[in-house]
Amino acid sequence: MTRVFIPKDVAALAVGANKVAKAIGDIAAARGKPVSIVRTGSRGMLFLEPLVEVETDAGRIAYGPVMASDVVSLFDADFLSGAPHALRIGRPEDHPFLARQTRLTFARCGITDPLSLDDYAAHDGWRGFKRALETGPAAIVTEVTQSGLRGRGGAGFPTGIKWKTVADTQADRKYIVCNADEGDSGTFADRMVMEGDPFMLIEGMTICAIAVGATKGYVYCRSEYPHAIRTFNEALRLARHAGWLGNAVGGSEHRFDIELRVGAGSYVCGEETALLDSLEGKRGVVRAKPPLPAHKGLFQRPTVVNNVLSFAAVPFVLTEGAAAYANFGMGRSRGTMPIQIAGNVRYGGLFETAFGLTLGEIVETIGGGTASGRPIRAVQCGGPLGAYFPPSLFDTPFDYEAFTARDGLIGHGGVVVFDDSVDMAEMARFAMEFCAVESCGKCTPCRIGAVRGKEVIERIMLGTNVEANIILLEDLCQTMKFGSLCALGGFVPYPVMSALRHYPEDFRPRAAAAAAE
Ligand SMILES: Cc1cc2nc3c(=O)[nH]c(=O)nc-3n(C[C@H](O)[C@H](O)[C@H](O)COP(=O)(O)O)c2cc1C
Ligand code: SF4
Repeated sequence: MTRVFIPKDVAALAVGANKVAKAIGDIAAARGKPVSIVRTGSRGMLFLEPLVEVETDAGRIAYGPVMASDVVSLFDADFLSGAPHALRIGRPEDHPFLARQTRLTFARCGITDPLSLDDYAAHDGWRGFKRALETGPAAIVTEVTQSGLRGRGGAGFPTGIKWKTVADTQADRKYIVCNADEGDSGTFADRMVMEGDPFMLIEGMTICAIAVGATKGYVYCRSEYPHAIRTFNEALRLARHAGWLGNAVGGSEHRFDIELRVGAGSYVCGEETALLDSLEGKRGVVRAKPPLPAHKGLFQRPTVVNNVLSFAAVPFVLTEGAAAYANFGMGRSRGTMPIQIAGNVRYGGLFETAFGLTLGEIVETIGGGTASGRPIRAVQCGGPLGAYFPPSLFDTPFDYEAFTARDGLIGHGGVVVFDDSVDMAEMARFAMEFCAVESCGKCTPCRIGAVRGKEVIERIMLGTNVEANIILLEDLCQTMKFGSLCALGGFVPYPVMSALRHYPEDFRPRAAAAAAE
């Protein structure tokens, strides 16, 4: 029986993975070739999906991108023994896109069956949990602190400090909340974890629960992720049935369970306090801080709110030790970051690497430049509130502080590439429009400012009093940056001001620009 691995990650499904799986099953049956089809997560090489792998004596051999119409020729070429074919990639781990990576968090993704507890255990699953049980709560917090792990949701806050605050706060109940809202443009790493390695997230959240003394966890997932929701709910059911969740997690004295909640589709509900309101059944409106969620969070109880990737990094930290994680990275950015390369790019996908690669290496060497073949003009990093980087800043290392020094942000690791056909005044206008649409409305600089900002940029685009309106726009951005209650209104000046600073020619009156060309 030959094992054939086909992703069921939604990125693979979108380009026909189910049809490919069916064709392989049908033709194998018709030709009397016994195969066992294992549906996996994605390796993250989205440009090769659907990527089909077969188990051979030389390890797994990959073929991709495979369409259902390719399957007959694959059988004719005897792909089940790893034979040559125009779509043959070879060993996936030798492909440059994978070979250059350091996969600590995504080590299993694309390799194992996401819903097989046996597969999970056979690939180092629950080892971090077992070590956490042995060392106890205080040592877990110390380990996570010493690993240097910082929140992967956007703000980069040290995870260990957050956990210690909740651990040190006395209360009758404490909660763990996993932020799986993943609203940033061009990001999909949280989804890949939930679809491709869901037990890792359950393990990370459980370790956190033991560390801080919480009994209940929630995962808040965006409604646009139906496959992730289905897979994760099934993983919860399996974990509960096997005793990894419930009254005695993993046979210990700890009680912990997790529930998945689905948001109704709002960018600001990814902001942790708006998320907590939404979880409580209210409209998602940002809360003023203090109190911090770590002191008074969900239902006014001490709550750890962390991103999927932050929790997902924890099993490795506990299994291999803080130093093994902290050895990767640069400066205060320790460990690895799953960078998501998207937009107009040749090799789009998930690339996990230690902090420190330059932006140019990421988009040009790894991403292969634009899909359109035209020159790269701009790269937006860190989601819709992140700055635009022109090629002159491509020497910026992927590192929290280095990005901050250039008025940018890493955020959740999203990198969106644009070619030279992009209109940066239009991108600036869109940033303000996005903020106006998504604003929770609680504070004036964001609620009113974003609407006025959009109008001012439209006036600039029409060539009306351009110089005066640019001064007005800069002034408005200052007000929003320093006067907004949360980072939605506070950070939208970054894409706007970076567009204005690096691409001033796009803000000139259109007629004058055309005449100048
Ligand atoms: C407007 C806005 C949207 C946000 N969206 C997300 C999101 O989708 N996912 C996320 O993990 N964090 C998001 N954040 C950051 C969260 O508020 C919070 O910092 C994070 O969940 C904490 O987890 P971490 O420390 O593991 O990063 C958002 C913040 C703001 C201001
Ligand atoms: S900045 Fe915008 S989203 Fe944030 S609290 Fe103010 S109105 Fe709400």
